[in-house]
Amino acid sequence: MKKSIEDISVNGKRVIVRCDFNVPMDEENNITEDMRIVSAIPTIKYLIDHQSKVILMSHLGRPKGNVEPRFSLAPVAKRLSELLGKEVYFSDDDTVVGDKTRKAVEGMKAGDVILLQNLRFRKEETKNEPSFSKELASLADIYVNDAFGSSHRVHCSTFGIADYIPAVSGFLLKKELDILESALENPERPLTVILGGAKVGDKISAIENLINKADTIIIGGGMAYTFLNAKGFNTGQSLVEEDKIDFARSLLQQAKEKGVKVLLPIDVCVTKEFKNDTEFKCIKVDKIQDDEMGMDMGEETIKLFTDEIARSRTIIWNGPMGVFEMPNFAKGTREIARALTENAGVTIIGGGDSGAAVQQMGFAEKMTHISTGGGATLEFLKGKDLPGVAILEDM
Ligand code: 3PG
Repeated sequence: MKKSIEDISVNGKRVIVRCDFNVPMDEENNITEDMRIVSAIPTIKYLIDHQSKVILMSHLGRPKGNVEPRFSLAPVAKRLSELLGKEVYFSDDDTVVGDKTRKAVEGMKAGDVILLQNLRFRKEETKNEPSFSKELASLADIYVNDAFGSSHRVHCSTFGIADYIPAVSGFLLKKELDILESALENPERPLTVILGGAKVGDKISAIENLINKADTIIIGGGMAYTFLNAKGFNTGQSLVEEDKIDFARSLLQQAKEKGVKVLLPIDVCVTKEFKNDTEFKCIKVDKIQDDEMGMDMGEETIKLFTDEIARSRTIIWNGPMGVFEMPNFAKGTREIARALTENAGVTIIGGGDSGAAVQQMGFAEKMTHISTGGGATLEFLKGKDLPGVAILEDM
């Protein structure tokens, strides 16, 4: 069990909080979806209420050590000010911890909030270089990790900084871990895990781990074609990772031996071109032709999967079921999302694309939990310790 901000005294202290404000923005730098910012508010409010001097930090995008104005965190400071109802000072300092930041921190009063510039404007950040970790730590007395979405990264702000000042978790990180842990380790059964998205490579070790935990694993989306191929179906031009076919076959075998049900698509909607406005048809998986590619699940698959969902008491979903960004091929993803909203059990959406799909489709309110971390949830499903959690102080 890790210490959280409630387990230490933060009163009057300078507290540096790693958040994940990596939010989508449009071309004019307007935030288009702010769940990650909203989710960080409870920790920030707690610290303000406890008279801390709150220094917030985050990355945005992948500027790779270059100062790129489109990746500035200025719009996030503005949104935070609106949500908190008080000014969040943006330290517009391209070196992140330069004179401007130091002066601003020195002048802080209890309850003040500062947001630093994008951590990835410094090339040291993603290399976990001690010099930058030390610079960040020198601003504060206590480090709080509340960036669940970045906790799988070994970076200065998620990992290295804990070498220099006491490190504890914030409320968001704690909540995400509690929900995922209880869903995997102590679920109300049956536990069904739904995996989708394009790449099998990303999900293979998750499936290996889940075979020991879940009652049913549903495999949809682009990754399903590697499994269908492993079962001997012609998958045409569908996404197939050739080097993962043998592994997919052995995973199916392992699942069978352990009595874990694995559901794959039985019919799919195919096209000859990867675009929305093109002819498509929905056919049985054994009818896919050499020049066709799977874009979405068919009606029978939707029924198979949604019936299984209806029987489940705990469901974890990571990765879309088809090319949901294209309206003609969003049905499978939408119907899975709808089935989850109709389930009275625990429904957890693992961030990333499936989280975005659920938000876009207006189903977010009906889920038990939508995670703020796609990559981090996947690492968790693989059974791996998240580095940004491992470095926090134990109780
Ligand atoms: C995410 O969006 O998954 C997190 O913010 C981590 O971003 P990264 O993959 O660029 O490290």
